[in-house]
Amino acid sequence: MENRNQVAVFGLGFVGLPLALSFAMRGAKVVGVDIDTHLIEELNQGVTHHLEAYQGETIQEILKTQMAAGRFEATANPAIAMDKCNSFIVTVGIPVVDGNGYMGHLESVSKTIAKGLKKGDLVVFRGTVVPGTVRSFIQPILEESGLKAGEDFYLGYASERIAEGKAFDEFENMPTLVSGINEASIKATEKLLKIVTKAEIVIASCIEVVETSKVLENLSRDINIAMVNEFARFTKEMGIDIFEVIKVANTHKRVNLLYPGPGVGGYCIPNAFYYLKPKADELGVSLELSATAREINRSTPSRVAAMAIRKLEVAPKNAKICILGMAMKDYSSDDRMSPALDVIHALQEHGVEVSVFDPAVPTKHDYLADKLEDALHNAHGIIVLAKQEGIDFEKLEYFRSFMTGDRPFIIDTRNVYQKDTVEAKGFVFEGL
Ligand SMILES: NC(=O)c1ccc[n+]([C@@H]2O[C@H](COP(=O)([O-])OP(=O)(O)OC[C@H]3O[C@@H](n4cnc5c(N)ncnc54)[C@H](O)[C@@H]3O)[C@@H](O)[C@H]2O)c1
Repeated sequence: MENRNQVAVFGLGFVGLPLALSFAMRGAKVVGVDIDTHLIEELNQGVTHHLEAYQGETIQEILKTQMAAGRFEATANPAIAMDKCNSFIVTVGIPVVDGNGYMGHLESVSKTIAKGLKKGDLVVFRGTVVPGTVRSFIQPILEESGLKAGEDFYLGYASERIAEGKAFDEFENMPTLVSGINEASIKATEKLLKIVTKAEIVIASCIEVVETSKVLENLSRDINIAMVNEFARFTKEMGIDIFEVIKVANTHKRVNLLYPGPGVGGYCIPNAFYYLKPKADELGVSLELSATAREINRSTPSRVAAMAIRKLEVAPKNAKICILGMAMKDYSSDDRMSPALDVIHALQEHGVEVSVFDPAVPTKHDYLADKLEDALHNAHGIIVLAKQEGIDFEKLEYFRSFMTGDRPFIIDTRNVYQKDTVEAKGFVFEGL
């Protein structure tokens, strides 16, 4: 079987970049390809905004080391990758716009690969897809090359399970699901992944099993979080702490409750329902539970905004609220589909001035303050939406000194605070 040491990774985002570097770190010669020329320029200068690390080295250090060693290059020119490599991993996704999956990126990357595909090449898709996509959508495009999947080139699918912030570790140590268009494709995919993955490689009987498992893994988390967000409404009325209830409930060996929050964000969990739905509609299967869970999680940010509005002692149009943390989860730089965006929007619709501090998020928004003090200045209350390095949540008196009103409020959606401590420092407190 061919040596799989010349690897191209298409898509250098939250998955693709650390994955490409994981191959390079283990001696593969890797070409990373992305259509975003600004991203490519930054990478070639050794710049990335990702918050990943491996064995004490940051992704920025790893990027520089692997480029200097000639094991990683980033380019917007796919022909370079198609010429140099024989293994292609695709980490391009299906964004959801207004509830519909946009297939354009997957289509164009598949066409690009088809143009340069050679006999004996291996193509592995890793993005999360609508079940059935690899066989019915991607394979025909790749075969426009004139080569036949399974005979002339290998075609595999390996779902991506990493969590941002743990990517390097999880590529190596998370069991990985694999299938392929035929036995030879499965073997080639397994051989390629084993360059990085030490954990079990679980072979499924067909690609559709892996595609479906991935969507259901994400959807099960969406449903679990919706469930605990509903439980939180109950415990609040009971006057007990949901985080404590979950902690003690999870001591049961067969119970695994996730934690509530201000909503669900990122590229994975909120999209899962919209990846399952088109196939379920086609099959005539209704998804009542999943749809309800999605709606609960989708509407949670506006409930958080309403909690803050109720706490205001001035009219919303005269109020300022400071948001601490706008990433889609704690200690992340990713604000894609973050519930914070919906909380901010809902507050602004009420006429509230919103100022946000999140030192990890690199995207530009006019409400993002450069300094914590600016975000707190004259604010009537704080909403904690994500924990972040660089925000010292203990400094309540310091926070208070910039704020206005007799008793500003803190709404804590991340279980950062104890009610008594916050109230003792002169704040009104509300948790989930
Ligand atoms: N982010 C996560 O933690 C995570 C975890 C598991 C699975 N996934 C899945 O992995 C996939 C990638 O997610 P991500 O978070 O890395 O997305 P991302 O948006 O960060 O990265 C995708 C990259 O693909 C690039 N791209 C788009 N079209 C291209 C083309 N034709 N050729 C080359 N590059 C192209 C984009 O410019 C972008 O940089 C998605 O399917 C996602 O659902 C993501």
